[in-house]
Amino acid sequence: MERTFSIIKPDAVARNLQGEILAMIQAAGLRIVAMKQIRMTRAQAEGFYAVHREKPFFNSLTEYMTSGPVVCSILEGDDAIRRYREIMGATNPANAAEGTIRKKYAQSIEANSVHGSDAPETAAFEMGYFFNALEITG
Ligand code: CMP
Repeated sequence: MERTFSIIKPDAVARNLQGEILAMIQAAGLRIVAMKQIRMTRAQAEGFYAVHREKPFFNSLTEYMTSGPVVCSILEGDDAIRRYREIMGATNPANAAEGTIRKKYAQSIEANSVHGSDAPETAAFEMGYFFNALEITG
């Protein structure tokens, strides 16, 4: 069993797509073991995306991620990190495979509807950034 961290981003929440995206995640067999809808502050978004601080899109990304509410969750399952990235599809929706969340819903490389951890170390950091132990169920 492995856990990964997911965000349903502001573009998707604004279009009322939380349920449809969660249904795709659940249909793939991943279980939701923690979940909350929040609106990030700029400082929270900057801390979350600190690894991208030097990237040209950092300012725009943190502005976008604070433009509306997001749904944070922790997903559990066999090989959850890799499988969730497969369900999400490529970062750039132009390259996303048929049947993936980003192919279906993403609007641009920035407003790409979902985030998922890319490795066990980032998953551990990201889960701990938004959830404490009491908020994570088995
Ligand atoms: P995410 O998987 O959350 O990781 C970083 C985010 O930066 C990415 O999804 C996009 O929302 C955003 N982003 C904006 N421009 C780019 C870009 N050129 N390359 C990668 N990510 C980008």
